Amino acid sequence: MTISLADIRKPIESEIHEFNRRFKDTVLSTVPLVNLIAKYLVRTKGKQIRPVLVLLAASASGGVTDATYRAATLVELLHTATLVHDDVIDEADTRRGFASIRALWRNKAGVLMGDYLLAKGLLLTIDTKEFHFLEITSTAVRRMSEGELYQLQKARQMNTDETAYFKIIADKTASLIATCTELGAASVAGPNPALQETLRNYGENVGIAFQIRDDLFDYEASSGIIGKPVGNDIKEKKLTLPLLHTLSKLDEKEGKRIRKLIKSGKASASERDLIVSLVKSTGGLEYAWNKAQEYSDQARQSIASLPSSPAKEALIQFSHFVIERTK
Ligand code: IPE
Ligand code: MG
Ligand code: MG
Repeated sequence: MTISLADIRKPIESEIHEFNRRFKDTVLSTVPLVNLIAKYLVRTKGKQIRPVLVLLAASASGGVTDATYRAATLVELLHTATLVHDDVIDEADTRRGFASIRALWRNKAGVLMGDYLLAKGLLLTIDTKEFHFLEITSTAVRRMSEGELYQLQKARQMNTDETAYFKIIADKTASLIATCTELGAASVAGPNPALQETLRNYGENVGIAFQIRDDLFDYEASSGIIGKPVGNDIKEKKLTLPLLHTLSKLDEKEGKRIRKLIKSGKASASERDLIVSLVKSTGGLEYAWNKAQEYSDQARQSIASLPSSPAKEALIQFSHFVIERTK
């Protein structure tokens, strides 16, 4: 049986509705161009995994409060900001199957709109003096920026190894997912270190599994559904887990030749296809799948002590969903 996001959202369906209402209001501005882009972003919204996790974590920790909605809005604003910036950085013209902001309004508007969304998110915590929200979230902002810059450095040096890979994905992806579940716990009845740590550990592990799955999409023929061509990470000189495993299996000379080819940026489409085939024939995909499974297991263990509830059950289902998902 495959798990759908619809099943996972079940325990918090009406809360998601309320979140969407508040999110729309929050992005509005007195500047018409900002509103135009904001409305486009709302229309082309993604899976809303992060706000769903905030709401589920709060629900599993005692119940959604007014503060939970602010936390959910904050993380979705921050996530959207990073995607708008990411498309500028990667010169990507599509996102979620639609034209990207930088494709429609140019890079300048993309950079500035991303900054606007981030500022709007952080400001949400100020009126209500929820400085513990601000601290948790700012840590994620720092880790995400560092993770992306470390990835850039390792791509330029072409010396990514497994240790560096896990640091990169923990920082660039898992840090925000962990922030979602931690904020969810913190939004229930103010700061609660033990509960926050439990949910944060869940988020960090499930976030790592999520990114390993994301990196596997790059080696799948059906990647069209997420709007990314096969072998795109190779083109961007990103060495992800499947390829790192393969490189560790090759003799040194062959490994060096492939790293050099990727680094040159001159690998042709057919050479990239050959690398993809090599990853498949040397067990790179299975290896990454197994690692994703380990982190998914770890995520479930992290929340074993929580009292049972429909929301806890949904978090368990989500840990399976992150690796089974097809988009
Ligand atoms: C995409 O995240 C960026 C990564 C961290 C892999 P999502 O897959 O959650 O993006 P949307 O919001 O659903 O489009
Ligand atoms: Mg990108
Ligand atoms: Mg990716």
